[in-house]
Amino acid sequence: MRPFDGRRVLLGVTGGIASYKTVSLARALAQQGALVDVVMTRSARDFVGGLTFEALTGRPVHTELVAEGHALDHIALARQNELIIVAPATADFIARAAAGRADDLLTACLLATDAPVLLAPAMNDRMWAHQQTITNVSRLRSLGYVVVDPASGALASPDEGSGPGRMREPDEILAAAAALLGTGSALGGLRVVVTAGATREPIDPVRFISNHSSGKMGTAVARAALRRGAHVTLIAGAISVPLPDGCDVVRVGTTEELAGAVRSALANADVLVMAAAPADFRPKSVPASKIKKGPTGPGAIDLEPTPDVLASTMDARNANCIVVGFALETDDLLANAESKRTAKKLDLVVANDATEPGAGFGTDTNRVTIIGPDGVTAALPLMTKDAVADAILDRVEGLLSGR
Ligand code: CTP
Repeated sequence: MRPFDGRRVLLGVTGGIASYKTVSLARALAQQGALVDVVMTRSARDFVGGLTFEALTGRPVHTELVAEGHALDHIALARQNELIIVAPATADFIARAAAGRADDLLTACLLATDAPVLLAPAMNDRMWAHQQTITNVSRLRSLGYVVVDPASGALASPDEGSGPGRMREPDEILAAAAALLGTGSALGGLRVVVTAGATREPIDPVRFISNHSSGKMGTAVARAALRRGAHVTLIAGAISVPLPDGCDVVRVGTTEELAGAVRSALANADVLVMAAAPADFRPKSVPASKIKKGPTGPGAIDLEPTPDVLASTMDARNANCIVVGFALETDDLLANAESKRTAKKLDLVVANDATEPGAGFGTDTNRVTIIGPDGVTAALPLMTKDAVADAILDRVEGLLSGR
């Protein structure tokens, strides 16, 4: 079950360059099962074509209160939707909404709805900081509108400032939308800790021992948890994919650092998903200077085991914390995975075969078997890591509802 399955969302688009990101937002909402009615203001159409949204949502795009001599039933349009998102919300749109205007289809819908309204402003940092905008935003907040404050960072035009004004990323808006819709997820409002990527054990100041983990599976789980309205802490080692927006990120290097970060995060965690691939061995001693090539090389490097993160942090778990581990195997997949589940006191273990094409490290897809309490197994087909993440969280939700 995806968080937006069958939910009706009106997505308002106003005229700002950030509307290029709204295209991804519309796509993500539709992919998550929402029925999306896009309403574009006149100036929005100067930035993105209506056909783009029509193609992504599979539904007609609405633009005018009156088209070809017929009045659009904006009351019905507003009332059949369970949530209105306006992204981007320009300074002008915010001013018109704060004044209670109904001079175009989108503002008219705002006056006709009882549904929650989520605004994702985007504008130049000076316009965001102007007292007029501050007053308008606080007026809208006092009416119950939820405003996701813009981020700082480079704005659209290179000569603009870098203060707050940049529209939040689609993932962040999606997470706020999920929380508002109360998507029915048992994970809504819970604290989920996800680990991702590889740890690195130094051999000398310039070399390390590691593995091929890309962080794709862990970041997919973090995104899926965000979409379900969870507060997500992502503890990431070395990863080769972008970090999701909207979660607290802790970066770690070695397995010992990972264990320390997991221990701290576990203090108030409801769920731990341990998708990271920690290095299992580290050199016993690390010289302060680079090992020179020399005629014979360094010879053998003496290794010792690193801490097992799951085992060594068991005492820090809350009694009700649901713990999900992974088992990457090359032989005896199910037997090895099941013994990891019991040895590491996991609620679920996600087993995958490192030798199978399209599964394991670095791929966008995975074929996993999820083993739950009492050894109950579910063998899933080859699917995207995003879909695997949702399948894992569906089972976590099942366990949560039984606690
Ligand atoms: N894990 C851990 N600490 C480690 C190594 C692994 O907590 N030092 C976690 C992984 O994040 C994963 C689970 O334990 O969730 C199983 O990891 P895996 O690499 O499959 O197994 P190992 O415990 O390392 O055992 P082996 O390498 O012998 O298969």
